[in-house]
Amino acid sequence: MGLKGKDFLSIHDLSVDEIYQILDFAKILKAKQKAGEQHQLLKGKTLGMIFQKSSTRTRVSFEAGMWQLGGNALFLSANDLQIGRGEPVKDTARVLSRYLDGIMIRTFSHLEVEELAQYASIPVINGLTDLLHPCQAMADIFTAIEHKGELKGRKLCYIGDGNNMVNSLLHICAKVGMDMSVATPPNYAPDAAIVEQAVADAKVSGSKITILDDPFAAAKDADVLYTDVWASMGKEGEQAIRKQAFAGFQINSSILQVAKPDSIVMHCLPAHRGEEITDDVIEGPHSVVFDEAENRLHVQKAIMALLMAD
Ligand code: CP
Ligand code: NVA
Repeated sequence: MGLKGKDFLSIHDLSVDEIYQILDFAKILKAKQKAGEQHQLLKGKTLGMIFQKSSTRTRVSFEAGMWQLGGNALFLSANDLQIGRGEPVKDTARVLSRYLDGIMIRTFSHLEVEELAQYASIPVINGLTDLLHPCQAMADIFTAIEHKGELKGRKLCYIGDGNNMVNSLLHICAKVGMDMSVATPPNYAPDAAIVEQAVADAKVSGSKITILDDPFAAAKDADVLYTDVWASMGKEGEQAIRKQAFAGFQINSSILQVAKPDSIVMHCLPAHRGEEITDDVIEGPHSVVFDEAENRLHVQKAIMALLMAD
């Protein structure tokens, strides 16, 4: 398989074929898990999971996923590792490579993850950086396919902060040929270099990327409405100023009115009800947020198996 031994740092690094290899394999693994069939593809393997930030879904889905694949997962809080006391990332990478079969890392700096991958001789998986959240975006597209089928000609609208989540969604929508519109306040736009990559990929796949600052214009005729917190991990100090800047950048019943009548609503979670999304919408019939959360498990199992299995 083409993905064996590779890192999973950014969806932009993947070919369209590799993206579908992961999605197709996730579908098979999900069916096996539901049927109670053994799928111990990583028997005897160990994944190290380095966390510099909090997590519910990422930690538990990687750990449970690794167990279901017959392997073992180690939770490594950066506070307890020597990395937290200044041991260089490049040394940590080479040491962990002598013990483990793969590393998943959640941290602040994307460059740190790239350095870890450069020095590690085993696959490194990005479990979220300030720049990207590729595992989540893969699970989101898997979920969108489950609910909507073929994504070409469909439109995903993201409303809110131009953060790691929108960056990875731009990457994947452009690759799979889904149209994407984004509405953020002008000072909180997605990363310019990533928009450029997405626009270039969208030219190849035949999709359209539109960056706006009007949530209603962005949501028009959308098949998927997506949002994420206004203040990501590490930005908690900006909560008050962001609350003002993001007023109106909310998925609520008025936004739903301009999207397609059968649109689905997504959120990577955790959600702040009353800020980026209203309680009635996240609890309402359009919401698929718990399917998304579940699919983290299946998609990450596929990623780990394709990268790490013999
Ligand atoms: N969506 C997501 O990554 O959730 P956690 O922060 O709980 O891992
Ligand atoms: N953008 C959010 C995603 C959390 C899963 C953050 O980085 O905190």
